[in-house]
Amino acid sequence: MSGIVGYIGKRQAYPLLLAGLQKLEYRGYDSAGIALQGADGINIIKTKGKVADLQKEVGANLPVGNAGCGHLRWATHGPPSKANAHPHSACSDDFVIVHNGIIENYLPLRGWLAGEGHRFASETDTEVLAHLIEHYYRGDLLQSVQEALQKITGSFAFIAACHKEKDRLICARRDTPLMIGLGEAENFISSDLAALLHHTRKIHILENEETALITSSAVKIYNSECTVMQKRAQEITWDVTSAEKGGYKHFMLKEIMEQPQALRETMRGRLSDGGQKINLAELNFKAQEIENISKIFIIACGTAYHAGLVGKYLMEKILRLPVEVDVASEFRYRDPLLCAKTLVIVISQSGETADTLAALRLARERGQQVLAITNVVGSSVAREADKVLFTWAGPEVAVASTKAYLTQLLALYMLTLYLAAKRQALPPARLKEIGSALFKLPAQVENILSREKEVAAIAGYLKRWESTFFIGRNLDFAVALEGALKLKEISYIHAEAYAAGELKHGTLALIVEGIPVVALATQKAVLEKSLSNIKEIKARGGYVLCFVQEGMEALQNEVDSIFYLPTTADIFLPMLAVIPLQLLAYYTAVARGCPVDNPRNLTKSITVE
Ligand code: M6R
Repeated sequence: MSGIVGYIGKRQAYPLLLAGLQKLEYRGYDSAGIALQGADGINIIKTKGKVADLQKEVGANLPVGNAGCGHLRWATHGPPSKANAHPHSACSDDFVIVHNGIIENYLPLRGWLAGEGHRFASETDTEVLAHLIEHYYRGDLLQSVQEALQKITGSFAFIAACHKEKDRLICARRDTPLMIGLGEAENFISSDLAALLHHTRKIHILENEETALITSSAVKIYNSECTVMQKRAQEITWDVTSAEKGGYKHFMLKEIMEQPQALRETMRGRLSDGGQKINLAELNFKAQEIENISKIFIIACGTAYHAGLVGKYLMEKILRLPVEVDVASEFRYRDPLLCAKTLVIVISQSGETADTLAALRLARERGQQVLAITNVVGSSVAREADKVLFTWAGPEVAVASTKAYLTQLLALYMLTLYLAAKRQALPPARLKEIGSALFKLPAQVENILSREKEVAAIAGYLKRWESTFFIGRNLDFAVALEGALKLKEISYIHAEAYAAGELKHGTLALIVEGIPVVALATQKAVLEKSLSNIKEIKARGGYVLCFVQEGMEALQNEVDSIFYLPTTADIFLPMLAVIPLQLLAYYTAVARGCPVDNPRNLTKSITVE
């Protein structure tokens, strides 16, 4: 998730673009850049870092021009650097582009364009698009953009400019937001409303596959057949603060709601044909390396550690390999048993968690191959690992991790599927079944999110208590740990997660009349056992808030509240069950008046040991 802005009109564009980028800062902070249509050519200023770094770079000599575009980068292809910063130009500086999204087929396009004589200055996928537009240019920017669009796959929102057509900007989108703000003899473009509402409330929100030609006095919107459409602008009534959070009260809720899209981005180019094909060639595994793996070690902290626990169940079940999961701070000091055939996986959203980084370094010192699952390109973990599987969740602002966790799970599922295919651990038909079930998950997550009010009602009970328990068996236990952490972290309610069968070995003593117990009973394979544990709690007066799959209605009379998750195979339930638990933590914290996005004593990235 990067941020893009554009302006065309009578005013000086630089201060307006800069102010727009400042409003979008939460969308990316790896590099910042602005391109302006000047008298003699397009002037590009860019730098590694944030908007403030760009301002320093520019100094007192503000560049002039009445049209231009700007970008804040959240790195995906190529680490944060000045060369990889946007705007990108083509061979000639006459063409520039700022882009948010991922051009999936950029490598073959880059090869082809290089063969046609194009020279590349960055490692980004975006630069390929600039060259493609230049390649098709025959005096009409709109037409060359429309031709380029026929060639690219992936997600994008971009603005293109050409010095030979200074009176216009062209923009387009697919699966990534882009909107146009209508002013008086001036128009604005932005990734989201936050950068527009200071100027205008009349907004065109571009739909997928639409392209727009924007001048200072007009906006023409074209559909995928290049036909002009008659569209009316919307009148937006949101206030500016809620616009920054996509209209939500908190970043955490925005990020919870972004999860279907984050899943689709993380799958993009990896899981295709409705899940029938899995491709993680980006990991550069040699066949022999995969064959040789005899043990897997997963190391992480906090929420990422909980994702690792799900990975253990999954990998052991599918790959039939022993998997150990360790908290990074423990791994380092316990002289872990590693051998040449161990694959070490570290998981970290930020890629900067000190304990995880230290564990990664220890594993590499011991000669281990380390595969990192991380959300941040250019982070220390990404740079120091041997192989990296990026999650494409986009920046996570709220301290409580939600979309990062879900995409970490997806990365683990895809990795397992990939290794299983290479090791022939399952028959091809079974692998395809798993792939297509994974492919359906974003829509199932959407379904759960649409029922947030049901969860808010459950929070109404939970909010009055200072202590609660989460129970589950098997994969449900791993999710219970994550649900309890979310609740503790933002609502300050003491929450303990237990393997459901373990409660009777001591903790049952704490079950008193009315105490809320969140019971996950999603696993068909252990449903009867879970039901027995629920009955133990009910018999002692506990108030059971239960989460099950559709079709498990028999539990309804045994519990105090029940939430039905869409049906899927047991192994996928963690990706669904965690969603209402995130919402439960969120609504409970809101009901208790807690500062949801910035809980006390915590920061987003823990860079001390
Ligand atoms: O950036 P990381 O994934 O390495 O962070 C690890 C933990 O600090 C993090 O998951 C933490 O537990 C979250 N705030 C939980 O919501």
